[in-house]
Amino acid sequence: MGKLTGKVAVVTASSRGIGRAVAKRLSREGAAVVVNYVSSPEKAEAVVQEITAAGGQAIVAQGSVANQRDVRHLFETAEQQLGAIDIVVNVAGASVFKPHTELTDEDFDKVFSVNARGAMYILQEAAKRIKDGGRIVQFSTGGTMMPISAGGIYAASKAAGERFAFALAKEIGHRQVTVNVVSPGVTNTDGLIMPQEAVDQLIQQTPLGRLGQPDDVANVVAFLVSDDAHWLTGQNIQANGGIL
Ligand SMILES: NC(=O)c1ccc[n+]([C@@H]2O[C@H](COP(=O)([O-])OP(=O)(O)OC[C@H]3O[C@@H](n4cnc5c(N)ncnc54)[C@H](OP(=O)(O)O)[C@@H]3O)[C@@H](O)[C@H]2O)c1
Repeated sequence: MGKLTGKVAVVTASSRGIGRAVAKRLSREGAAVVVNYVSSPEKAEAVVQEITAAGGQAIVAQGSVANQRDVRHLFETAEQQLGAIDIVVNVAGASVFKPHTELTDEDFDKVFSVNARGAMYILQEAAKRIKDGGRIVQFSTGGTMMPISAGGIYAASKAAGERFAFALAKEIGHRQVTVNVVSPGVTNTDGLIMPQEAVDQLIQQTPLGRLGQPDDVANVVAFLVSDDAHWLTGQNIQANGGIL
């Protein structure tokens, strides 16, 4: 029996990258998982197939976190097909790295629609539907603590998601629901769009001395959503090999 046997988990952005690793990790602990994607149905289906081939249970649900109707549909699909929701992990994120003087309205809309408005929608829906004793994890970035040149707009939008999560932790703690933030450091995925020089520099500054892998972060999420983490809420966990 895994630590999450009998639980239902919604993991946004889980067709690729860290979300995929989270979906697979939670499934290995016994959770039934909703694998969410926006535009890569074949990648999401492949994650579901990997999970079911390993004896787990998973379904696919398309939808953008930035669209409220999609978000409602995502949660309804989870409830109808898997049952009441115990765990919500909002991994979805959008990034723009540009010097401040070059930022445009389009850049603002791209990151704030997913990282701020998307976090608002997902956390709202999670708060309304999650079972008492449930677990919510919102993804952010180490960039909200450690300023990165050209990373201002990304960090600003991610900070909004953090603040929603911390307020929600206070609002629903009485139901024994925990709400925490996980902030990866530089992690090896398609979403890593920094110049190689900047990545190398960050690795050099990382006490554990290497680039993070999606599983490194997924292991942290697996702990936060387990019963063992019941006394941990309103925290921002830096899953980053010690850089800061
Ligand atoms: N990688 C890093 O170095 C790093 C560092 C710090 C923080 N983070 C944060 O960690 C999280 C995961 O990062 P990652 O590198 O794994 O990202 P990634 O590889 O870019 O993730 C892509 C995933 O996001 C999905 N997605 C994109 N827009 C979405 C939307 N609007 N709604 C729902 N899903 C959406 C994609 O779906 P499709 O496949 O359908 O396109 C895919 O599943 C993000 O919040 C990111 O900001 C990452």
